[in-house]
Amino acid sequence: MSTETRDVEEIEVALLLEAIVRRYGFDFREYAPASLKRRLWRRAHAEGLETISALQDRVLHDSACMERLLLDLSINVTTMFRDPSFYKAFRAKVAPLLKTYPFSRIWIAGCSTGEEVYSLAIVLEEEGLLERTRLYATDINEAVLERARLGVFSLEKMQEYTQNYLQSAPSPSTTSRATTVRSSTGVSSSTPSSRSTTSSRTTGSTSSTRSSVAT
Ligand SMILES: C[S@@+](CC[C@H](N)C(=O)[O-])C[C@H]1O[C@@H](n2cnc3c(N)ncnc32)[C@H](O)[C@@H]1O
Repeated sequence: MSTETRDVEEIEVALLLEAIVRRYGFDFREYAPASLKRRLWRRAHAEGLETISALQDRVLHDSACMERLLLDLSINVTTMFRDPSFYKAFRAKVAPLLKTYPFSRIWIAGCSTGEEVYSLAIVLEEEGLLERTRLYATDINEAVLERARLGVFSLEKMQEYTQNYLQSAPSPSTTSRATTVRSSTGVSSSTPSSRSTTSSRTTGSTSSTRSSVAT
């Protein structure tokens, strides 16, 4: 690619991102440029377009195209107890503080398919905090939110999630409960103000958690 072509492409990308933020409110201007360009080109080609400017035109006039682009731009990788050290720190430092409050609200801004929400709900339940906590879970990607509402996770993944959970160092009494995990969860609702019930069970125990999750 010549320097001139690259310069033009940079202008086109900057204009497209500006158009998206002004038209739809989604701000991708700080995203890593290389991966962003790759994804923009992938969407442009999938739409049968030859320039980023043409993609801008389509996105501005066709909100369905924006939805498709949104799916291309959002990276939805997630697992339960994804960063065990976070949950360890949460139990040690945050939970004791939350116990001094009568009620807490926790917002997971980019929840993807919900694994982080359910992980946090489990920890909150084990810390005796779930009943006085409201978890809010949002995402720009409606498709992943739909899966988060279902709260269905494969047993294969649960093996990995269980390892993560064990590394998050719960107390010995809760460790035995997580050896095999079966999840039966449901998150529903589509408006920011509505709520739904999430329940999650671990086998071999009487543990059951319940929380309100608004998506
Ligand atoms: C890599 S996933 C992380 C999921 C989860 N928080 C975790 O740590 O496992 C990032 C999620 O954030 C969402 N996301 C990205 N930008 C967002 C924004 N501006 N507002 C809401 N969600 C966003 C994406 O759609 C994606 O599902």
